Amino acid sequence: MKAIIPAAGFGTRFLPLTKAQPKEMLPVVNKPTIQWVVEEAVDAGITDIAIITGDHKKSIENHFRPMEKLEKALEKAGKNKELSEVKKISEIANLQFIIQDEQKGLGHAILCAEKFVDGSPFAVLLGDTICTGNPNCTKGLVDIYRQKEKSVFSVETINVEETKRYGIASGNEVEEGILLINNLVEKPGPENAPSLLGIQGRYIFTPEIFDYLKLADFGADGQIQLTDAMNSLSHNQEIYSWTFKGKRYDIGTMKDWFESHIELSIKSGYSSIIQEILSKS
Ligand code: UTP
Repeated sequence: MKAIIPAAGFGTRFLPLTKAQPKEMLPVVNKPTIQWVVEEAVDAGITDIAIITGDHKKSIENHFRPMEKLEKALEKAGKNKELSEVKKISEIANLQFIIQDEQKGLGHAILCAEKFVDGSPFAVLLGDTICTGNPNCTKGLVDIYRQKEKSVFSVETINVEETKRYGIASGNEVEEGILLINNLVEKPGPENAPSLLGIQGRYIFTPEIFDYLKLADFGADGQIQLTDAMNSLSHNQEIYSWTFKGKRYDIGTMKDWFESHIELSIKSGYSSIIQEILSKS
């Protein structure tokens, strides 16, 4: 299976921070957000990955491309640990970078990779969202896809005042934590939300999703909405949601970005530094 990581958006909610610095390159602990995302795909067994990026986001590509000059300098200085870290990043997966010329939404970003996935089922991982948990979110979805051979995406239970920030899914439970979807609505007000299950940013799609993405109209905000295409797909083919029990951080929000940094620093063995800072403040 291949994966698409959309990372070409303007990150308007986080301006001016994200004007020259892509949201997906914001550091969490000791690496950029998008590296966490690529590692999740690789841990799920996916190594052919297309990152959808933009002309204004060259640093994403630079992060993963080999940098001969730097490698030679590290070698010369005997900095072998740093050299192996740097090499590991450029050898992490078979990465392709596809430019989305215009920021016409998540659905459009996925359409840009239609040739790359070449008629096969594929995973989508949002480049600004970190998921942790065991199995990791993408691995959990791949396992469900293998059983059902139908599209499946992860959801979490959200608070009623948050419905306007999420695609909301509803359906009938067919197994514990797995729903057969009958309705999907993009960012409804609480009065129109069919449930409190919010779409999280990890998906496996059958290639038929492209037919619906091509049919989808540009929404009121001028963007092709993935949720609308998923809703159309659900009327013609089974599509499932899976309630992910792990943690998800939307790095496009200040709260989740800070939280990810603190929680993942503790998990990564930096808890003594955090304790020291907190004890002084
Ligand atoms: P978001 O809507 O969270 O990101 O899309 P955004 O559009 O960059 O941010 P805001 O809403 O303006 O603050 C989720 C993911 O989809 C990518 C983003 O880069 C992000 O990783 N995306 C979004 C694209 O690749 N292309 C788009 O046209 C829109």
